Amino acid sequence: MSILAVHTIADLRSRVREARRSGAAIAAVPTMGALHQGHGRLIERAREECGFVAVTVFVNPTQFNDPADYARYPRTLDADVAFCEMRGAHLVFAPAPEEMYPREQQAYVEAGEVAQYMEGRFRPGHFRGVATVVAKLLNIVGPDKAYFGEKDAQQVAVVRRMVEDLNFPVEIVEVSTVRESDGLALSSRNARLTAEQRRMAIALYEALSAASNRIAGGERRPAEVKRCAGEVFARYSGVRPEYFEVADPVRLTPLDRIEGAVRLAGAIWVGQTRLIDNILVEPDAR
Ligand code: PAJ
Repeated sequence: MSILAVHTIADLRSRVREARRSGAAIAAVPTMGALHQGHGRLIERAREECGFVAVTVFVNPTQFNDPADYARYPRTLDADVAFCEMRGAHLVFAPAPEEMYPREQQAYVEAGEVAQYMEGRFRPGHFRGVATVVAKLLNIVGPDKAYFGEKDAQQVAVVRRMVEDLNFPVEIVEVSTVRESDGLALSSRNARLTAEQRRMAIALYEALSAASNRIAGGERRPAEVKRCAGEVFARYSGVRPEYFEVADPVRLTPLDRIEGAVRLAGAIWVGQTRLIDNILVEPDAR
């Protein structure tokens, strides 16, 4: 294994301390591994803005509401370390579960309202696990900036709110979603799709685009926008939509009237694979 990878909190801290002593700004890029160009964009952005980039690779058990999903989450550490090295990261922190959770976790971060709807509703406990592990990782690395993808917009909102409410001395940077040429958002879960399912997976981005166009055309009623998304899903027999929401872009709460920018977000099942995606729509900016 490359010298890039460290597995203990003590080693990580001593490497970060060294970098800080040399005057570098510290970036943290939290991931669960199985890295793809979506993660790659986060690392590249961090490289542009900071002198020392620490990528964390940890499949966090406390954010999986489904143990089977945790068990089958892809684990590809050697490839991930090579990926980080190629993109100029300075360190990969890949702790074992016992390093992060040496005993039963008693203290948790509750994210509040921002974690209540959409992903929060359909994945009970998910954001509590995310907020808690991100708090731990930020305390372990102590970065100046931490990088998150718009792909998980509600997660970014949860982290931002936590950082503000709990006074974490870190700047949260949001990086745009990286997509395949047909619009499918890159995700570690895409690897599980069969060729047929891969064709179906585009339904979500298509629904987001159709809904966005409807808003651009003047529609201001969320129920109509959601109905428009539903029409797209109905054309894909292998797709089971879980939710499609028109949400406040900061609070991530469902809206009953569109008055400014909104976050359109949805989740679908394609076979055993759950996919999420979202876009920001700014009707007044057009
Ligand atoms: P993971 O799903 O590995 O994602 C790590 C980061 O990469 C997240 O901030 C995510 O939004 C971003 N990302 C994933 N796909 C992307 C894409 N197509 N375009 C842009 N960014 C993308 O999210 C997590 O891990 C975990 O919840 C974590 C924050 C690490 C806490 O365990």
